[in-house]
Amino acid sequence: MTRATSTVIAIDGPAASGKGTLARKLARHYDFAYLDTGSLYRAVGQAVLAAGGNPADEAAALAAAKALDVNRIDERAIRSREAGEAASIVAAMPAVRAAILHFQRNFATNPPGGKDGAVLDGRDIGTVVCPEAKAKLFVTASPEVRAQRRWLELKVSGSAVGEAQILDDIRERDQRDAERAASPMKPAADAYLLDTSNLSIEAAFGAAVAIIDKAMS
Ligand code: CDP
Repeated sequence: MTRATSTVIAIDGPAASGKGTLARKLARHYDFAYLDTGSLYRAVGQAVLAAGGNPADEAAALAAAKALDVNRIDERAIRSREAGEAASIVAAMPAVRAAILHFQRNFATNPPGGKDGAVLDGRDIGTVVCPEAKAKLFVTASPEVRAQRRWLELKVSGSAVGEAQILDDIRERDQRDAERAASPMKPAADAYLLDTSNLSIEAAFGAAVAIIDKAMS
């Protein structure tokens, strides 16, 4: 039997823009599978750190990307500030990106659990991983708002890093993600921009559903 084509929703945006929360809610709403592609880069960066390596070492990063087992990602370890930093370093390497591209595309076209579609969030879903996605959103928020959100998240998980330091991290990461040559973070030409600086989670979700319903109709 031929499988109906999977419907893909691409959610891109910078660190702590609210794209993960939004993407997860959208997947539940449409009963689609969900893939947080940032967790793959975080897992690669974290694996290099855990082995005592340097994330800037291309050979070590590529070996970690090739050895990545998506079913064995340590969800707690990859959320640390250090893992986020390491993720953005390994993510700038074309060979690392190539090593995990197939998994992402396959998830989008053959969503697990027999779902009819998939929501993927990341930096290059609408531009590189799934340029044919049915609906594309680029979720943003001001660096200050994003720093505050990330600070609250990290505080809950026991981190004592200050908000000013996190704002610096976010600015540095935005710059690295947007200026790298390989799949830089940028809105696809056909993406809808959603600025969540002044939106609650529910308001952002409502706005996203309105945009996606229209794109899918
Ligand atoms: O949680 P946060 O929004 O900070 O970032 P993330 O989505 O977990 O991604 C961590 C890092 O992985 C980013 O800073 C990017 O450098 C990289 N990434 C990427 O290059 N391409 C993707 N599709 C997803 C993440």
